[in-house]
Amino acid sequence: MGKNAAVGLVVLVLAAVGTGAAVSTEDDATAAKLATQVCSSCHGPGGDSTSPTFPKLAAQQQAYLAMQIRTFKSARGRNEPEAHDYMLGMAALIDDATVDALARYYAHQPPPAGKKGPPVLIERGRHLFEQGSPERGIAACASCHGKDAAGNGIFPRLAGQHAPYVVHQLKAIQQRLRDSPVMHGIVKDLTPDEIDAVAAYVQSL
Ligand code: HEC
Ligand code: HEC
Repeated sequence: MGKNAAVGLVVLVLAAVGTGAAVSTEDDATAAKLATQVCSSCHGPGGDSTSPTFPKLAAQQQAYLAMQIRTFKSARGRNEPEAHDYMLGMAALIDDATVDALARYYAHQPPPAGKKGPPVLIERGRHLFEQGSPERGIAACASCHGKDAAGNGIFPRLAGQHAPYVVHQLKAIQQRLRDSPVMHGIVKDLTPDEIDAVAAYVQSL
């Protein structure tokens, strides 16, 4: 779906369900409606997207999801062109309670299945993910994202994520298009080959 169509749909769905819902079950109903009628057209049913342009949201960490939607809302912090083009206009229309309910919705979807890739590449990626590169001062990804890359709180789940999306984000963070002080220091010296390897590894989980 095009970005302008998506913004229009958010307006329609929010108008149809009404506003000012204080009860959390109503927020959950609004979120489920937005998720199935709007978000799913890009992120897939239940957040299990098929196109790597659109990140998988299924089983993503709730705190991380809420933080990212708020980052889009603020129009600060994620300046990579895709975020700008697709998410900012839409997120601006979503109120705080619905943001939390959307995060709850996707965090509770079943985790996406991993996707196999070239074994040698995956093995290199696994090594970097689990060990980092101490001699170059690169921390092990697992120390924040978890041994199985399931994430925790504000540390996002990476398991099963589309490799091209992961590559794209790591490069956006390196270039400071996406502002992430914690991640920038860790990934700034990764080579393109290392980025490909670690992305193939997390996608395989
Ligand atoms: C028209 C397509 C489109 C629609 C509709 C859409 N998104 Fe997105 N979304 C994207 C794209 C593209 C990205 C990746 C941006 C980037 O590359 O930085 C994204 C990124 C995200 C992220 C960040 C994921 C991460 O791992 O950091 C979240 C959260 C998100 N969207 C939530 C939603 C929600 C909730 C809805 C429905 C209200 C929605 N999106 C509707 C295209 C869309
Ligand atoms: C010190 C903790 C820490 C370490 C170590 C770490 N990360 Fe992260 N990572 C984070 C945090 C926090 C975020 C969320 C950043 C934000 O808010 O923009 C993140 C975000 C990401 C994202 C974006 C996910 C998405 O859905 O958009 C990717 C990809 C990623 N990290 C990969 C890695 C890789 C690969 C390594 C190892 C080379 C690594 N991280 C090491 C803390 C860490």
